[in-house]
Amino acid sequence: MAQQQTQDQIIDGQRQDWNRVAGGWEKWDRFFDEQMAFLNHRLVADARLRTGFRVLDLGSGTGYPALLAAQTVGPGGSILGIDLAEQMLDAARRKAASLKLSNISFQTGDVTTLPFESASFDAVISRFCLMFLPEIPKASAEIARVLKPGGWLAAAVWSAPERNAYLTTPLAVIKQFLDLPPPDSTAPGIFRLAKPGDLAGMLEKAGFTSVTEEEFLAEVRFPSGEEYYESLMDIAAPIQNLFAKLSEQQKTEARQRIVSSIGQFRTVDGIALPIAVRMVAARKPLG
Ligand SMILES: C[S@@+](CC[C@H](N)C(=O)[O-])C[C@H]1O[C@@H](n2cnc3c(N)ncnc32)[C@H](O)[C@@H]1O
Repeated sequence: MAQQQTQDQIIDGQRQDWNRVAGGWEKWDRFFDEQMAFLNHRLVADARLRTGFRVLDLGSGTGYPALLAAQTVGPGGSILGIDLAEQMLDAARRKAASLKLSNISFQTGDVTTLPFESASFDAVISRFCLMFLPEIPKASAEIARVLKPGGWLAAAVWSAPERNAYLTTPLAVIKQFLDLPPPDSTAPGIFRLAKPGDLAGMLEKAGFTSVTEEEFLAEVRFPSGEEYYESLMDIAAPIQNLFAKLSEQQKTEARQRIVSSIGQFRTVDGIALPIAVRMVAARKPLG
């Protein structure tokens, strides 16, 4: 029972965190869409989306990769995006309306207990959500249940911290001020699924076959260190939570140190920050 409460608390915390940053996601939407759209295309391909498919997007947030999936499956198909945070979904709905997409809808819910009939989706996609779940094996079983036989799951999660300067630069600076315990590799968080084979193994245990994974390396580009700092702090709820533990004076100093540290990634085209994303694909057996 105590454990159950802890899981509920994690879910509640996630809901509050992402609702809090929904305005930031909408503010920086165009910028991050341009920077990370290639991940949506990769997920659409890995999930083998086709015209007419009914697709579930887990932890859709402000609509990625759901919006691209809706364009891919066309008017004869449909996309359902599920997320804990109503305010993130409100932003996703506004984008779907501005893109005139009528085959997409969003509903609040927890990925760990999917409120859908068994075998009701042709494919499942997810970007940057699964590592935040307290019970990933349970969610894996749920995904297997709602997929039709032969259907594909394609998921993107953050990979190794040492290849994700985009995320770890502010963490390293915050650690100069706070005595943070070493990260618990089994606790939900940004790098929970960074280890090779971790998510893949859970999916195999849940009955998936043809499981593949690849560490996909890329860069996010910013015109300046200031813009990097502003945008990340506006959208990255877990980093915001750590930053909030600093005093006002420490925050000012930390900001300067983050912006200065980002200078090492300067190129002729501005700041180019490395990211490493673990792309995992898996198939429900044909049956
Ligand atoms: C980093 S955002 C990613 C949003 C979007 N997929 C994207 O890539 O832009 C993580 C999202 O996962 C959602 N999330 C976290 N835990 C969840 C859960 N247990 N069930 C449903 N959504 C969850 C959050 O509310 C948040 O919107």
